[in-house]
Amino acid sequence: MAWDRRTIITMFGAAAGLAGAAGAARTLGSQSDHTGTPTRPKPASGVGRGKSVAIIGAGIAGLTTAFNLQKSGFDCTIYEADTRAGGRNRTLRTGDTVSHRDGAQSVSFGNGDYFNAGPARLPGFHTNILSYCRELGVALEPFIYENLNGFFMSDAVYDGKPLRHRSVRYSIQSALDEFVTKSFSPSQLAQPITAEEFDRLEAFILSFCGREGTRFTEDFRRSFLVHPGAADTAPVMEDALSITELSKSAAFGIALSSYDFVEWQAALMQPVGGMDKIVEGFLAALEVAPRLAMEVVSVALADDQVTLAVRDRASGQTSSVTADYCVCTAPLPIVDRFETNFEAPYAAAIRQAVASWYPSTKIAWSADRRFWEEDDGIYGGASSLDFDVMQFWYPSNGFNGNGGVLLGAYTAGEAADRFGALPLKAQISSSKDIGMRLHTAFSAEAHSPICIDWADQAFAKGGWGVLTDEFAPTGAYARLCAPQGRFRLAGDYLTHLTGWQEGAVLSAHRAIEGILADVEVG
Ligand code: ALA
Repeated sequence: MAWDRRTIITMFGAAAGLAGAAGAARTLGSQSDHTGTPTRPKPASGVGRGKSVAIIGAGIAGLTTAFNLQKSGFDCTIYEADTRAGGRNRTLRTGDTVSHRDGAQSVSFGNGDYFNAGPARLPGFHTNILSYCRELGVALEPFIYENLNGFFMSDAVYDGKPLRHRSVRYSIQSALDEFVTKSFSPSQLAQPITAEEFDRLEAFILSFCGREGTRFTEDFRRSFLVHPGAADTAPVMEDALSITELSKSAAFGIALSSYDFVEWQAALMQPVGGMDKIVEGFLAALEVAPRLAMEVVSVALADDQVTLAVRDRASGQTSSVTADYCVCTAPLPIVDRFETNFEAPYAAAIRQAVASWYPSTKIAWSADRRFWEEDDGIYGGASSLDFDVMQFWYPSNGFNGNGGVLLGAYTAGEAADRFGALPLKAQISSSKDIGMRLHTAFSAEAHSPICIDWADQAFAKGGWGVLTDEFAPTGAYARLCAPQGRFRLAGDYLTHLTGWQEGAVLSAHRAIEGILADVEVG
């Protein structure tokens, strides 16, 4: 099954965070924090003057760190091992090259299309990253995830035929309706209930399932067998599917309800023109551009400074740089390779946490005709699949245009372990097999696949790390959240928003606050 618990946790880091927050106040309704809290550190005018900060990594955490610290007068230099800034925030366009252990791939999309190979969506309550979009002039548009016209598909169910999300959802409501109507009684409830309360509960469930009083409204929830038309072309609605049949795939329930997860709920957004507009916005606002293709090989901590050995990948020359502070935003599998003089427990925590780095793969397909819209009526959103490719996504921009880029696999968790072990050809052909089953035109019209296997990207080494769940009990998470002298780690993995740019931003804020506090005290 593709949607196992680990998959959910790896794709939805906050699940672990929510569980861990059991002691925190739980409030109801209007008192709940539905908007998220901005935590941007206030610049402290001039306190950083004469002080330098070496930042390792030009992903969102590194860029956020430099953007903010420069406002307090710090001299910030970002060392980025890759030849581009952005880290996992990567938007692919024609002419780009994507590495893969089986060979480099060249991107070739039509019509100026693009594909967000890393982060692709911004939840409405990720207040901090959204505030940077506002400040940096990054225009946003809706990102559609839930689309009831999207498909579900499992080999275990209805002979592996694609089923519309709408059909599955309606069928579940219909089954619940039938259960409540025929078999629901006060004696089945765990708590005693009055006859009046029971009637109210029953009416509530039935109205949720599509029935209002005695009048059925269920027709409005079903898919059309015959579309409504002019004159005597009345719509004909399909019958409910069998719940016994649907339940043969455990993936259906979670896939259907993933849209209700707080982080995947509407409204989601995306930057107009590509996620890397955020990177461009930061770069335009930095006083000093990141130094690209500069790979840190060692970190030496002293009481009052940090010394890095940095290898220029173009010339092969290694030089030594010294700074008053260092914020390291490289993923831990990369940090683990540095030669360091970290205290043993800190180095051990890094080594231990590397095991929490999960693979994740995305495959993009180009098409010159939007067959998923024209033929299948799917405008944006996703198809959820009980296969290791896990999801198809349909572009939320360019509706009714000439072609577009389709996501034909997005793996995480155990599915990603299996998928990541396949050769490139097999990864592409699994995606194609599913594409052909979902969309009649896929075989003839989808072309130029590009596979980005994040575990295989030299300076990412995985999709993301989930420390909060597995490593909180060992103390590794807390240890890595704390500084080592003048060296601080930052990255989404050090927050309860793992795998999100909001997490990267929040961890950078924490590192910035730590440095500001140090400078003000010292
Ligand atoms: N935050 C990532 C997503 O939404 C994992 O897919």
